Amino acid sequence: MEATLLSSKGRKTELQCSSICIGNLLLVIGALCLRLVPTGCMVTEVGQQKPLRFRKDGEFKILQVADMHYADGKITPCLDVLPSQVAGCSDLNTSSFIHRMIEAEKPDLIVFTGDNIFGLDATDAAKSLNEAFAPAISSGIPWAAVLGNHDQESTLSREGVMKHIAGLKNTLSKLNPPEIHVIDGFGNYNLEVHGVEGSGFENKSVLNLYFFDSGDYSTVPSIPGYGWIKPSQQFWFQRTSMRLRRAYMRNPPAQRAVAPGLVYFHIPLPEFASFDSSNFTGVKQEGISSPSMNSGFFTTMLESGDVKAVFTGHDHLNDFCGDLMGINLCYAGGFGYHAYGKAGWSRRARVVVATLEKIEKDVWGTVKSIKTWKRLDDRFLTGIDGQALWSKSSSGRRRKEIVAL
Ligand SMILES: *[C@@H]1O[C@H](CO)[C@@H](O)[C@H](O)[C@H]1NC(C)=O
Ligand SMILES: *[C@@H]1O[C@H](CO)[C@@H](O)[C@H](O)[C@H]1NC(C)=O
Ligand SMILES: *[C@@H]1O[C@H](CO)[C@@H](O)[C@H](O)[C@H]1NC(C)=O
Repeated sequence: MEATLLSSKGRKTELQCSSICIGNLLLVIGALCLRLVPTGCMVTEVGQQKPLRFRKDGEFKILQVADMHYADGKITPCLDVLPSQVAGCSDLNTSSFIHRMIEAEKPDLIVFTGDNIFGLDATDAAKSLNEAFAPAISSGIPWAAVLGNHDQESTLSREGVMKHIAGLKNTLSKLNPPEIHVIDGFGNYNLEVHGVEGSGFENKSVLNLYFFDSGDYSTVPSIPGYGWIKPSQQFWFQRTSMRLRRAYMRNPPAQRAVAPGLVYFHIPLPEFASFDSSNFTGVKQEGISSPSMNSGFFTTMLESGDVKAVFTGHDHLNDFCGDLMGINLCYAGGFGYHAYGKAGWSRRARVVVATLEKIEKDVWGTVKSIKTWKRLDDRFLTGIDGQALWSKSSSGRRRKEIVAL
C-alpha cells in the first residue's frame, strides 16, 4: 500500500528515497494599488508599502494557489489528465487557470503556498518563477508566496528563489523578518490587514496573516522525510503574534478579544491526520505527507490563541478542511497541470473571505466571520465545499454551517 502511495507522489519524494526512508516518508503570499485605479495608487514613501486593508464593502478575499509545479511553460506537458486532454496541455493551462480564477473571484490578495515551480524540470529557475507568477503580477493584485520542497531543485538555492520572488513586482513576499538575525528557512514573514479606510480601524490590523517556510527535506540523518517548522520560526511567530495581540487589545479602539490570524505554508502538519470523512469537508485521497517528527507548531499556535486556520498544499489529492481544537487545518488541493494529480479530478484552488461586522450604516468594525470554498478548473469554475471557518460569536468553536456559493 505504501508503495502505491509512493508512486502516486514519486516525483515529490524521489530525492529522498533511500531504502531506509521509504516507509516513513509516507507517515509522513509594493503592491499597493491594487484593486483598480491606476491613478492614485502609488508607493507612499520609499520602502514603505500601504498596508493591505478591507474593502469598502467590508470584505477581504484571499485566493490560495497551491502547487503550480511550473517548469518551462509551453513545452512542459500536463500530468495525470484524461487521455483526451493530453494534447495541447502544458504549463500554460496552469497560467490560464490563475487568470480565470482572478477574473472570477477578484481577490484582494493571492497566496502561493509553495512548489511554485517544479525545479527538477525547470531549466532556468528565475525564468520559470517569472512565468509562474506572471498572471498574478499582471493582475495588479498584491500577492505573496512561500517555498515548497521543489522550488530549489532548479538553478537557484532556496535563498536564491525566495530573494528572486521577493524582488518581483506587486509582491508582498519577504525574504525574512528584518528584526530577526537568525531564523531557519527563507520566506518567513507576516502581513497585516487593516480595517476599512475612514473607519475606526483604519490604522489597526484586524486580520493577521503569517507565512512560513516549512522546509524541504530533513537534514538530520536519523530523521527521514520532509522538513519541519523549526523552533526559531515558532519563536518569531510567538513574539509577532504577541505584539499584534497587544496592539490590537490595547490601542484605541481597544478590543477584548484578539484579531483572527491565518497561517500559510507548504507541508501539512502531522495534525492534519486527525480527521476522517466524518469531521472534515472535502476529500482525502492520499496519505498526509507531513514531516515524520512533530516540531510542535500546532501547539504553539493553540497557545497564541489568535490562529483560526492553517492553509497548506503539498498533497495534491487532498483538499479537505477540518477543525481541530478551534484551528481549521486546510488543504487547497492541487492547482498545477505539471503536478501529479488524478485524471478526471479537476485542478482546484481555495478561496477565503473575511467579513467585517457592520456597526451601523457604512460603519465597519472588526472581523465577524471567515468563510472558505474551492473552485474547480472546469468550464464553469464550479464552486464547492463552502464552509464557515470561524465566527466572532462562536469564538472559534466548530460550526457545521454550509456557505452558499
Ligand atoms: C489546456 O489549454 C488548451 C488551450 O486553451 C485547451 O484547449 C485545453 O482544453 C486545456 N486543457 C485542460 C486539461 O484544461
Ligand atoms: C489613522 O492615521 C492617519 C494618519 O496618521 C490619521 O490621519 C487618522 O486620523 C488615523 N485614523 C484613526 C481612526 O485613528
Ligand atoms: C474525527 O472522527 C474520528 C472518528 O470517526 C475520531 O477518531 C477523530 O478523533 C475525530 N477528529 C476530530 C479532530 O474531531
